[in-house]
Amino acid sequence: MESSRRGARQTAYRLRVASTPEKLAAGAADLWDSGLVASQQTTHIAYAGKPLLSRATCHWCVEIRDEAGEATTSEPAFWTMGLLEKSDWTAHWIAAPAEIIQRDREAVAPTLLAPGTPALFRKEFEAPGPIRRALLYASARGVFELRANGRRVGEDLFAPEWTDYDRRIQYRAYDVTALLAAGRNTLGATLGDGWWSGFVGWQETRARYGSLENSLLLQLELELADGRRLTLGTDGSWHCNTGPILASDFMMGETYDARRERRGWDFGPFSGQDWLPAREVAAPTAPLVAQRSEPVRIGEQLTPLSVNEIQPGVFIFDLGQNIAGRVRLRVNAPPGTRLTLRHGERLSPDGALYTENLRRAKATDVYVCKGGGVEVFEPHFTFHGFQYVELTGLPYWPDLSAVTGCVIRSATSDAGRFECSHPGVNRLWLNGLWSQKDNFLSVPTDCPQRDERLGWMGDAQVFLRTASYNQDVAAFFTKWMVDVEDAQTAEGIFPDTAPRLREDGNFVGLGNLGGSAGWADAGVIIPYTIWRVYGDRRILERHYRAMVKWVDWIAAHNPNGLRQHQLANNYGDWLCLPSDTSFGTHSPMKYLLATAYWADDCAKLARIARELGHEADARRFGQMFEHIRAAFQKEWLEPNGRITTDTQTGYLLALAFDLLPENLRAAAAAHLVANIQSLDWHLSTGFIGISHLNPQLTLAGHTEVAYRLLLREDYPSWLYPVRHGATTIWERWNGWTHEGGFFKPQMNSFNHYSLGSVGEWLFRHVAGIELDPEIPGFQHFILRPFLGDGLDFVRASYCSLHGEITSEWRRDGGQLTWTVRVPANTTAKVFVPSRPESVVTEGGAPVASAAGLRVLGREPRFLMCEATSGVYVFGATL
Ligand code: BGC
Repeated sequence: MESSRRGARQTAYRLRVASTPEKLAAGAADLWDSGLVASQQTTHIAYAGKPLLSRATCHWCVEIRDEAGEATTSEPAFWTMGLLEKSDWTAHWIAAPAEIIQRDREAVAPTLLAPGTPALFRKEFEAPGPIRRALLYASARGVFELRANGRRVGEDLFAPEWTDYDRRIQYRAYDVTALLAAGRNTLGATLGDGWWSGFVGWQETRARYGSLENSLLLQLELELADGRRLTLGTDGSWHCNTGPILASDFMMGETYDARRERRGWDFGPFSGQDWLPAREVAAPTAPLVAQRSEPVRIGEQLTPLSVNEIQPGVFIFDLGQNIAGRVRLRVNAPPGTRLTLRHGERLSPDGALYTENLRRAKATDVYVCKGGGVEVFEPHFTFHGFQYVELTGLPYWPDLSAVTGCVIRSATSDAGRFECSHPGVNRLWLNGLWSQKDNFLSVPTDCPQRDERLGWMGDAQVFLRTASYNQDVAAFFTKWMVDVEDAQTAEGIFPDTAPRLREDGNFVGLGNLGGSAGWADAGVIIPYTIWRVYGDRRILERHYRAMVKWVDWIAAHNPNGLRQHQLANNYGDWLCLPSDTSFGTHSPMKYLLATAYWADDCAKLARIARELGHEADARRFGQMFEHIRAAFQKEWLEPNGRITTDTQTGYLLALAFDLLPENLRAAAAAHLVANIQSLDWHLSTGFIGISHLNPQLTLAGHTEVAYRLLLREDYPSWLYPVRHGATTIWERWNGWTHEGGFFKPQMNSFNHYSLGSVGEWLFRHVAGIELDPEIPGFQHFILRPFLGDGLDFVRASYCSLHGEITSEWRRDGGQLTWTVRVPANTTAKVFVPSRPESVVTEGGAPVASAAGLRVLGREPRFLMCEATSGVYVFGATL
């Protein structure tokens, strides 16, 4: 519901679903008619009509009644059901015949044609009449690009994307009606390695979920104008060859020889003599599932800011922004010219490309020109993390248009905007958003550049609230939680990274990561948070048993309420600074952190159990929480509120996870502040503590300390990298320092979002757009900004599932003007910052007389009101 009217509200809805648009228009909802339901609900209403079958197209609309009983009906829309049954698939899985790779290896490029050379597949077919609708279903073990009659099918990259391929493989469906016609047609596909058989993580050999062989499954379903239905699938009648891509790998890059392009291969008629029949291979045992998250696509496209020749023939382009993606290259050079593109995040002091921190990732693309005019190259099955591109081999000085930086990311849409009076803070927020875009690539990864790029769960959970303000990540995390649960062991241990890399393959050193405090706990934190932010209980239902199993597993191994049992790793407060560093395996700080997370798992799980109506579990986990809380206090809490480990993160977790007696919270917060003060007002937390730092300081009444930390520009601080030109969030506070230069290259990414989790605080507490503690999904929410020295204005907005919430405050001297937007069909508890004796106005008149507002009372620094939907402009003295 959209409306700027004060008090606009839905009072009832009616959903209609029909099998044809005509029926829907005529009001004949033959699939489902919900009837008029008196309800304010506008989200997560599950279809409850006739059972839906594979391929069904469902046309639907919704009618709503507003607070005055006025009816409004939406434009009709539709969805199409996927292939629900295994028997819907009649196509066969096909692979390239070994002879082709063999033949080309000897004939063409002996050094380059390693396994991993993408194969081309093609098929010509006759459509015996005009086509009404054509759907192409596609899956692969590997990653595909599809073509129909010489044109690209869809815009997706790296489909069918990453899952635990032993557990499930995704498929996608493309409407190709516009690409096909009556008569002769050609379908083509290029099949590369991707996560299935390429380099993943830091392992030394290529991935192996089953075999190194890539295979493809395509099923084209045609509905002709005369009503006939035809199905055409991959099988042994398809033909296969190699093409211009000699090698392509996420980590290593792509080698492309344009002289080998096979013109016409993807549109007939074509008489390729050297094409061999494809080989039918066994279907996987894992089920095929429709992809539920946004596809990976090209996002932003950037023109470089500069190009420099740093040595004769060595050109460096600066995109001005660190991205995950690749270069589209435009050149004009003689046939056989061999161009090399290398990618790096930074430059060395001498101006050369800095690539040491990429570890084993070669991140090198090679293009061999075909000649004859301008040619454009964009690699297919690779991506790099970079701001700088080094181009060599070009016989002339290129201008900026030679290079376009193409961002590659999951196509999640923007949700939030944050702007304030401090340019450094604006850049900090933007750096977090960029690191999110650069790392949300099919799954939430740690970094896009070095040989890692894994779905690290600790990173994902600390950043999730920030991520959900920045973009709509509901589908993205809903899909990823399936990967997380797929990776859970039979005993109940959640992994540290997901999708899991299995131990029985060749995932050297990667397979056994699991159960780590703060990382594996994401198995509870993610569903809980997605439910809180989006109000979708189904993610709780789906993963409930897995969460219970996990927490029970911890409990079974730690009977005394302290989480001391440890599997492979305890990362502690990863990458905290020396004062907090607890790298030793048995440091008390690590046990404190682990215990705190366990307690919080229990608190969340008790709340989840209550939501789902599992009362006995709710009590059980509530008691488990109390047991751990008591053990925590006994082990680490001194009577004066000091925590024995005396680290910032120790205090933060105790405060955030409610582990302290009420009467010692203020004292503990004072110890935290003293700790910060002892470091000359600097932070020292790592990945885990940092997301709680400013929120907890603010909620404990130390807003001014939080602002002071935010606005620090000297090391270590959030703005230190910003001041030194960072365009993304660095992995570590000391990734580069003025005194020491680059940190050791073994682990020094310049694009890790974890330390950017301060974005959450900017939205929740600086702009003041906050969830209601009891009601999920922002249908009722809180507006409560905490103003602090150093910012004169803030303009923030957040598109919740119920519409756009805005908070814009400005102060002039001691006068506040605050404009807020409460979307239609929502309500908010609004805390207007003001001095106790201040006259608070709305729209220039005393607040008590404002339509849509009800004054609830005062807190020392806020006037509290309950607001119906609408736009309000408050004035107050601060
Ligand atoms: C990754 C992290 C991850 C960590 C686990 C690193 O190599 O880059 O972001 O969370 O390992 O401690």
